[in-house]
Amino acid sequence: MSDAKNARLEYDGKTVELPSLTGSENETGLDISRLRAETGIITYDPGYGNTGSCRSSVTYIDGEAGILRYRGYPIEQLAEKSNFLECSWLLLNGDLPNTKELNSFTNNITIHTMLHENFRKFFGSFPKAAHPMPVTAATVGAMSAFYQEKDTPETLHETTIRLLAKYPTIAAWSYKHSIGQPFIYPRNDLDYASNFLHMMFATPCEEYEVNPIIARALDQLLILHADHEQNCSTSTVRVVGSSQANIFAAISAGISALWGPLHGGANQKVIEMLDAITHQGMSAEDFVARAKDKDSDVRLMGFGHRVYKNFDPRARVLKKACHDVMNAMGLNSKQLEIAMALEEIALNDEYFIQRNLYPNVDFYSGIIYKAIGIPVNMFTVMFAMGRMAGWIAQFLEQKESPEFRISRPRQIYTGAPERNWQPVDTR
Ligand code: SDX
Repeated sequence: MSDAKNARLEYDGKTVELPSLTGSENETGLDISRLRAETGIITYDPGYGNTGSCRSSVTYIDGEAGILRYRGYPIEQLAEKSNFLECSWLLLNGDLPNTKELNSFTNNITIHTMLHENFRKFFGSFPKAAHPMPVTAATVGAMSAFYQEKDTPETLHETTIRLLAKYPTIAAWSYKHSIGQPFIYPRNDLDYASNFLHMMFATPCEEYEVNPIIARALDQLLILHADHEQNCSTSTVRVVGSSQANIFAAISAGISALWGPLHGGANQKVIEMLDAITHQGMSAEDFVARAKDKDSDVRLMGFGHRVYKNFDPRARVLKKACHDVMNAMGLNSKQLEIAMALEEIALNDEYFIQRNLYPNVDFYSGIIYKAIGIPVNMFTVMFAMGRMAGWIAQFLEQKESPEFRISRPRQIYTGAPERNWQPVDTR
């Protein structure tokens, strides 16, 4: 990290030097860690759109150029040539694994997919209609009651394996509970994506043959969702981890943050939006007009991004994968037709062009999930399954960072000045 030129801030007769730091892709930030001590003032940046929270070498995004790389490898190459467990190793360890490392990691994940039998009762305590996101968030949080309260380097390695291995089982069992079907146990003869599909769709009465096209599409979706630098849910994982709460608690918080419709919950909202357009007999033009109208509470879900001011490269890969999966399965999708019509209109509309609003990862992912049979309320659970690798990698990077300290932002107070308590009969 080479330091380039510094900045000088002058305020109220005081001058403070702000050192700059430049990353390996020439992003430059100003270090304001001494600002309040030397000037008494703070910066103000709601939503942190202009604030770097950490130094990280896990993922690089260039929002203007539409670039996304995991540890330097372009997402387009990984989506086409890699698999989710290889990408998970890459995110966690910084380099692609060799054959021995990949085989050992894959085997370790495979033999840790079972849940403690007590979890059967845990799932039974939830109402059938419960959305699987709070169920999976609660189950991951509860894992600290089964494994360990305090993280050590040894336990963190085991926990990494356990979280990656068990989350698909937790996800599938939350689905089975919601439809009143018996839990299907993981199988060690199936790969990661196939095992999840089998746990989701097999029943004691009927075997489920995994279609390799579907399994590959799912594995590719997991790769595309695996990490995305300091997004809302990853920042949540880091903030919780910064208090030295254990990793299960941090990841559980990340799952909850992801559920929001402005974040990972958008993939479910996209499908609901596409279905509403169909059911209400609206044209794509009508809907886009509503999404532009400030008085309507309608947004074009799956469009826009805090960082990408050009195409989200994941959306580009997913748009192609949508067509490949549909063609391979001989499906046609009304939702895909509507999505493409919406995209065509929005990409040529001044409102979206001026605001740099392009399709993001959530715009097409839901169409593929639906095509491979994943129920809509499981879409964000699938997002969390992929992001699990990135959350753990970022949690571990923070824990090992020399700059590790508890996150505690400041505020600009706008409340009442000092005043005295009055007895209730005098108010
Ligand atoms: C993810 O951060 C990540 O990396 C996230 C993620 C990851 O991998 O972790 O990439 C995953 O969360 C993708 C985003 C999924 N969310 C959606 O698709 C929901 C719809 N999109 C938005 O609500 C919005 O675009 C956000 C939340 C994604 C970004 O919000 P910002 O950066 O705070 O932008 P904003 O809300 O201030 O919008 C800027 C302008 C506003 O109009 P003006 O006030 O300037 O007139 O653009 C408008 C917004 O009204 N706008 C939209 C819009 N998104 C923004 N108008 C219509 N439809 C939309 N989708």
